[in-house]
Amino acid sequence: MKRLQRAFALAVSGVLLTAVLTGCGGNSAASDQGDGERTIVRIGHNQATDHPTHIALLAFEDYIEDKLGDKYDVTVYPSELLGSQTDMVQLTQTGAIDFCVASNSILETFSNDYTLFNLPYLFASSEAYHAAMDDPDITDPIFASTKKAGFEAVTWIDAGTRNFYTVSTPIETPADLKGLKIRVQQSPTNVEMMSRLGGSATPMGFGDVYTALQAKVIDGAENNEMALTSNGHGDVCKYYSYDMHQMIPDILIGNRIFLDEMSAEDRAVFEEGFALVNRIEREEWTEAVEKAKKKAEEEQGVKFLYPDTKPFQEICMPMHQSLIEQYPDLEPIYEGIQMYNKRYPAQAAEGGAEQ
Ligand code: GCU
Repeated sequence: MKRLQRAFALAVSGVLLTAVLTGCGGNSAASDQGDGERTIVRIGHNQATDHPTHIALLAFEDYIEDKLGDKYDVTVYPSELLGSQTDMVQLTQTGAIDFCVASNSILETFSNDYTLFNLPYLFASSEAYHAAMDDPDITDPIFASTKKAGFEAVTWIDAGTRNFYTVSTPIETPADLKGLKIRVQQSPTNVEMMSRLGGSATPMGFGDVYTALQAKVIDGAENNEMALTSNGHGDVCKYYSYDMHQMIPDILIGNRIFLDEMSAEDRAVFEEGFALVNRIEREEWTEAVEKAKKKAEEEQGVKFLYPDTKPFQEICMPMHQSLIEQYPDLEPIYEGIQMYNKRYPAQAAEGGAEQ
């Protein structure tokens, strides 16, 4: 079923992408005028329509059209209809579309600064993660680092905690990962993390993971709980292990020219809209994860495991020092995050991991 859905989505996406990019329907590039005077605003992402990200972006669409509906016509394209995240970042870069949601992992290949938020065990708790990501002193320098490349980040989106899940091997210690092919996101940090932990890193796009699991090309993957249900990975993977290795934000990025050319008044409304995306998604997230866990357990037969996270953490920690040595400019931001880690230390039951 999932395979059919994906094949259908891909077929639609090819046609749709051509239509979107060639301006079929009277529109061409990002800042084109739509019906009459309205500017078409295109936003792409890779989640299904039941995902908090989609719900938040629809709220953005409503907000902008409510406030500035005479000027802007916003359309949200879910489910990789406009291509993979890497494709969508490139489309946003060139202005073929105006916004997309990309995992922070993917952005690492566009700016080294993003590497910081991809570090395993960077944040001590969800509270520290949220507080740090809400602090402009921490995010602003990183969010602006791709301006020259044609895009900038306008807000971050919670994507929970990433954990390992496998078809048939319970992961209780790093040794259990040995010899397993685990899909990771296409980022050097993720590949290094996986190699250090002893598994065989298999980088691939998100949309290819379900088929790869089903065909046993890979033994498992790592993600938040939503991947089990919203993407169906729990149909194939029966063990989900809370090793809590990363809290990687998703980032809403926008085309720089589109943002810079907007009037100050319109930009102020868009800024309110970006803040709304962050707020709505976070409000939806907690409940969505609880529902996903329940569904995975009760309907898909996924077993949730709560290993001691320390052995995983100890193996990954040297990556922090290496990153600071490689990119010394990131040190003040790294230290800023440590301040939040002290203020909000790890909780005993952090993220559902009953340790
Ligand atoms: C999460 C994240 C996505 C990302 C995906 C992945 O679902 O929210 O932005 O693409 O993980 O593992 O690729």
